Amino acid sequence: MAQTWTPNSWRQKPIQQVPDYPDLAVLDSVEARLAKYPPLVFAGEARRLRSALANVAEGRGFLLQGGDCAESFAEHGADTIRDFFRAFLQMAVVLTFGAQQPVVKVGRIAGQFAKPRSSGVEKQGDMTLPSYRGDIINGIEFTEEARVPNPERQVMAYRQSAATLNLLRAFAMGGYANLENVHQWMLGFVKDSPQAERYRKLADRISETMDFMKAIGITAENHPSLRETDFFTSHEALLLGYEQALTRVDSTSGDWYATSGHMIWIGDRTRQPDHAHIEYCRGIKNPLGLKCGPSLTADGLLELIDILNPANEAGRLTLICRFGHDKVAEHLPRLIRAVEREGKKVVWSCDPMHGNTITLNNYKTRPFERILSEVESFFQIHRAEGSHPGGIHIEMTGNDVTECTGGARALSGDDLADRYHTHCDPRLNADQALELAFLLAERMKGGRDEKKMVING
Ligand code: PEP
Ligand code: CO
Repeated sequence: MAQTWTPNSWRQKPIQQVPDYPDLAVLDSVEARLAKYPPLVFAGEARRLRSALANVAEGRGFLLQGGDCAESFAEHGADTIRDFFRAFLQMAVVLTFGAQQPVVKVGRIAGQFAKPRSSGVEKQGDMTLPSYRGDIINGIEFTEEARVPNPERQVMAYRQSAATLNLLRAFAMGGYANLENVHQWMLGFVKDSPQAERYRKLADRISETMDFMKAIGITAENHPSLRETDFFTSHEALLLGYEQALTRVDSTSGDWYATSGHMIWIGDRTRQPDHAHIEYCRGIKNPLGLKCGPSLTADGLLELIDILNPANEAGRLTLICRFGHDKVAEHLPRLIRAVEREGKKVVWSCDPMHGNTITLNNYKTRPFERILSEVESFFQIHRAEGSHPGGIHIEMTGNDVTECTGGARALSGDDLADRYHTHCDPRLNADQALELAFLLAERMKGGRDEKKMVING
């Protein structure tokens, strides 16, 4: 029988991935301060995202979720945010064309600061220090001082999230996302990239369609959906003290919401059913993501679904599958079959990043062809099982970094040193992200044609 939930009931449970704060009184006072700060997002927005995701769960949409592995204080600037948003919009346009369905846009941004680590310590030479756990907890520099968890960083993360969200809202609603600008989103380094020509052709077709619609009286002025877009934020709900401080009752429904972001997810390392992270997440009404890695059994998944979504509401739960290109065929079908057999409503999303990390020349990297291969298997498996491949979840940036190998520019292991900027895992650069979107769009179009043939044939 489920126990009573409160925003702090997670504190009675075992917990993984907790930073070792030297002074708990300081931590308490920071959390108390945060609890008085304004919410970053509103319950109504989270509900809107949930209903968009409900459509995806029912097979009528596609989820595009992506952004940094870890946001950083150092890279906080208008250009970084704009470049990310631009690359993300380009991907969304390409996918909308491919899927011929609405694309639900969710950034890993404006709150994606805390990182789970496989080891509590990091060794360099003969020095061993606590691991870096994300800018909201400690510093990335390999010094004793930087690695001490500092609660004040939570306030900095909150303020950065607020500023980031403010700019994103302006971009989404204030004209930048206007489809009439579809060519302008090309500026930046992608304009000289191998994807440029493909994108230009698509943008031409959109502009042509817009001209036609204008001629019959449908314009961006009288149709907000042409000039505005819904953009939502998400992050891993790892640092539960921070999440609790931003957990608020929605006055219209009386329900509890995490107001740190629209959607939050549970990481692959913190999904033990009787532990703190699941306890916290079960009580809030936001859409939730659950990372599903190779160690998750079908029964384990069904147990988690019952805890997190007891009413079986579509849009509440997104299963973010991250097995690895060589393991997806072994693990995904058994999970799909169990979920379908029990009639559970979920969004199936593919994270082709976290199961495909390798080390090359001392850099953590991900080969583009393995990322693509996992996504392709994900689509094929869903097609074979008759379920809806509902989305992708990627780590990406709008900048010209060299963190993942491969792609049309054929980045090699020797290129990694050039612009390896990530604070945690390797991200696709804007060029690779756009290439992935084009390849995906082709697959989706192929799937549609196949379906039509079955229906007509
Ligand atoms: C992540 O999304 O950055 C992450 C740590 O993923 P996972 O929990 O799937 O390993
Ligand atoms: Co990551």
